[in-house]
Amino acid sequence: MPDTSTTRKRVLSGMRATGKLHLGNYVGALENWVRMQNSGEYDCYYFIADWHALTTDYADTREVKRNSLEVTMDWLAAGLDPAKSTLFVQSHVKQHAELYLMLSMITPLGWLERVPTYKEQMENLTGKDLHTHGFLGYPVLQSADILLYAKDAVTPLLVPVGEDQAAHLEITREIARRFNYLFCYNEDFATGLMTGSVSYDGVFPEPQTILTPSPRVPGTDGRKMSKSYGNAIFLTDSEVEVRTKLKTMVTDPARIRRTDPGDPEKCPVWDLHKIYSSAERRAEVNEGCRTAGIGCIQCKGWVADGVVATLAPMQERRSEYMNNPRLVWDILENGASKARKAAEHTMECVREAMHLDASFPEPPKSE
Ligand code: TRP
Ligand code: SF4
Repeated sequence: MPDTSTTRKRVLSGMRATGKLHLGNYVGALENWVRMQNSGEYDCYYFIADWHALTTDYADTREVKRNSLEVTMDWLAAGLDPAKSTLFVQSHVKQHAELYLMLSMITPLGWLERVPTYKEQMENLTGKDLHTHGFLGYPVLQSADILLYAKDAVTPLLVPVGEDQAAHLEITREIARRFNYLFCYNEDFATGLMTGSVSYDGVFPEPQTILTPSPRVPGTDGRKMSKSYGNAIFLTDSEVEVRTKLKTMVTDPARIRRTDPGDPEKCPVWDLHKIYSSAERRAEVNEGCRTAGIGCIQCKGWVADGVVATLAPMQERRSEYMNNPRLVWDILENGASKARKAAEHTMECVREAMHLDASFPEPPKSE
């Protein structure tokens, strides 16, 4: 493949290392990542945020590496292709940690305390003590992840994320502006002392959020699908598991008996039909549910058909990698070396702008 990395728009996104991915992860993010990759228009960097996983799961880190491997296998199964995209693990590229440290020096506490996910997670994740430096600093680490790759991109770096991440992207832009203001538009810079590639855009051009529209993906209990709710269908679930899980899925509460008519709009199973069933099947469900012409068991069986058919090719691709996990790790290592080059180039500029490069200190300028 010709090297088009300098002409295509650069895309970067990350996913926490939480272990096996479910249908909600696929529909909300991964499917879109694969689409961006396959359009051929973008130079895509996708990474596993294993350090971010530690912000909430610091007490037991035994599964972290295994989880990164599982996530990567799901990525490959879903169609991410190491020949087209750069796939890597955050902790394998140490520059993320160095930039995180530098950005943490200039980020006001107030900015972090008012990030909506901060308070929400504190309240929701009750079993865990989240009064840690690392948890508060989550958005700073995310800013470092992003800004490391923003510098040499031909256009503003594109960051595809869900709505829930919009506030983190906003803080990233604020931190970028603050960094540029503090370290790039100063006297040294004006007099040309700064020789490197710090340009008039500052070190960090502001990244651009690409909001990924995602349909509602309910879990078997009707709440949003989430690993921690125990309501998820995983990309690796066998046909039997998919069918068993869906059989117990909650439906329109008004349909108690088989003869009671229902309303698909009040039923989470319908949300899955919207994703996994054809227009004809959906028409059949809509009519059959409202007239009590079909039963919920049958209806859920149809949705299961759609889910199983989507997962089958992914699971086939995954099985090859499962037999050879070392190959998967090699893919991540190759990705990390490529990412490291881009990240290190950014860091050279960052260190120079902050006077923290290792070159011999200039003597003071004579008046
Ligand atoms: N915080 C993101 C999430 O929970 C994951 C993430 C970490 C990320 N670093 C990132 C996403 C950088 C985009 C860019 O989904
Ligand atoms: Fe839901 Fe289908 Fe039952 Fe209607 S028939 S309530 S859409 S499961």
